[in-house]
This record gives sequence, structure tokens and C-alpha cells, in this order.
Amino acid sequence: MKIGILTAGGDCPGINAAIRGVGKTAIVEYGMKVYGISSGFLGLINQEYQELDEHHLSGILTLGGTILGTSREKPFKPDDHRFNKVDKPKLIKKHYKELGLDALVCIGGNGTMKTAYRLYEEGLNIIGIPKTIDNDVWGTEVTFGFDSALWIATDAIDRLHTTANSHKRTMVIEVMGHHAGWLALYSGVAGGGDIVLIPEIAYDENILASYLERRVQNKKPYSIIVVAEGIKRKKHKSAASYISEMIQNKTGLETRETILGYIQRGGSPSPMDRILATRYGAHAVELMSRGEFGKMVAKKGQHTISIPLEEVRGKLRLVPVDHALIKKARYMDVCFGDRK
Ligand code: F6P
Repeated sequence: MKIGILTAGGDCPGINAAIRGVGKTAIVEYGMKVYGISSGFLGLINQEYQELDEHHLSGILTLGGTILGTSREKPFKPDDHRFNKVDKPKLIKKHYKELGLDALVCIGGNGTMKTAYRLYEEGLNIIGIPKTIDNDVWGTEVTFGFDSALWIATDAIDRLHTTANSHKRTMVIEVMGHHAGWLALYSGVAGGGDIVLIPEIAYDENILASYLERRVQNKKPYSIIVVAEGIKRKKHKSAASYISEMIQNKTGLETRETILGYIQRGGSPSPMDRILATRYGAHAVELMSRGEFGKMVAKKGQHTISIPLEEVRGKLRLVPVDHALIKKARYMDVCFGDRK
């Protein structure tokens, strides 16, 4: 078999471990040929690919980013410019066939799985591998990238405690997660955040102010507020600056904000992400060797499973408001802004 691999959407630690997992399983275990496609779906549109051999795959387990490059190209999204309209899906199918591919592995998040499903509907043999620091891909308990970003965000929050304590300040830190609050919830609990704001729970500004004032009355020297970038707030302001300004105005407390941004997407993957990415990559090849396509590999309990792409596309996995960790966090007196 001749298989193609592409990586699309926001990058994250662990993608190269997944490429390695697919490549080594395919080449060593199944004697397949492997082609790396550049810059996500753009590489298939523009015929930018090269054969990957074991040489290309060595030394990349611990390497952040993606050796193939990525893009947010959405081939099924109608072109907004009127001239030289290109039928991108048609080009992708043409180049897939010209390259002689028997299957294509798409490593990406929600948008990538949606495109992957559409290409499967068009007759291509597709397998999806879920990755994103947001951990918001439907159908799997976890995506690789999330654990690495959690380590980075938690380390940042740990560091904020010492400077907040030195200055007796209220520190606001904004973490990524797109429309989901997984990173904020997990890093907020791991980092000992006092307030954790996630898009899934509507917050009341007066409840936040009263909570902080109670902390001052209880002689707490400082507070840490972890906010997800996707929380509701006035437009044209980052979540962190909106919350920081609101707190300062309502309570008079001295606040400062930190936006962690793309640091959460960089660097070497955590051990757990290396293992998860390797398992996902290997499982993807096993599925292909059995002629099973139109599926996304996923984690369920201790097992690596697969689910139809049709079930995944267009869905978001958000934090359930009754999630066990939210309940336990409330026992630790964490405020989510929704209860007095
Ligand atoms: O999906 C990963 C992610 O980092 C989100 O958390 C964030 O909102 C988005 O990508 C940023 O997109 P871009 O990399 O295109 O700026």
C-alpha cells in the first residue's frame, strides 16, 4: 500500500510523534510506502509531497511542531475571491490518484475531521487522527497536544503565585482552548487557581467581585484567576484584559494579566502525548491494513478505538457543566462565577 500523511489546523506538541507512529508502523510492520504531504490539504492541492523513509522519521518523537508543516486550508469552503475559481476538492482527488495513494491519514482537529469526512464521501480512503491542545474533538476522551499544553499552562500558573504573593496582586492568566474550557479547567485546578472561568459556565461579575472581597476579608494575600480565551465578554478585548479591568473597577484590587498564547502550542511533547500520538499513529495503520476507512482513531478508557468520521464531523466536545472535576474544584472553594 502507498499511504499519504498530512497535518492540518493549529499545530501542537506530539504531531511528529504521530507522524513517526504512522510511518514506522507502515514501513517496518506492513512494508507500505509513505508520503508526507506539506502544509495540510494545501499540499495535495499544490502537489507538494515527498516520500518519507526511516531516515525522515528518526529523531522526531520529541520534536515539537510538524515536520510536514500545516495550514488551515478548508478545501470545501467556497473561495471568497471571484477570479480563477479553483475546484480544490477536484484537485485533491486528482492528485491523490496521480500520486497513486491507497489511503490518506489526516492529523488534525475538528475542522480537519470535517474535511476528512467530506473527502471520504468523495471516495478517498481516509483515516483521521485527533490532535489539538483544545481537547475539543468529539468522540475521543483526549487528543494529544492537550497534556503538553496543560503542563505549560500549569507551570505558568505556578510561577504567577510567587509574583502575585510578592506584590499582593490579583493575577489573571488567559489560556487557549478555542470555544472549550478544558485547558482552563484542568490547569486551573492543577495550578491552584482561585477563580476558573470557562465558556461552558456563564459567570456573574458581581459574584466574582464578592468572592475576591471575601478572600481579602479572610486575609488571603493574593488571588489567581484562570480564564479560557473563549469566555463571553465585550468584543475587541482579550478575555484576560476584560476580566482584569472588570475586577479592578469593581473591587479596587490591583490586577495584572498574562496571555499565555502560543507558548502552549510550542516545544517538545510530554511523555503522555508521545505515547498517545504513537498509539494513535500505529492504530491508524492497523485500520488501513484491514481496509477500514472513514474512521477516526480515539481513546476510550485504556483502549485505542476507532469511530466513524460521520459521527465526529461538525461537533465540538465541550466541558459538561456536571463534570466531576468541576464538582471537586468547588470542594476546593474554586469559584466558577456562577454561585455565591
Ligand atoms: O486550535 C488550537 C488553537 O491554538 C486554539 O486554542 C486557538 O484559539 C487557535 O488555535 C489559534 O488559531 P491560530 O493558530 O490560527 O492563530
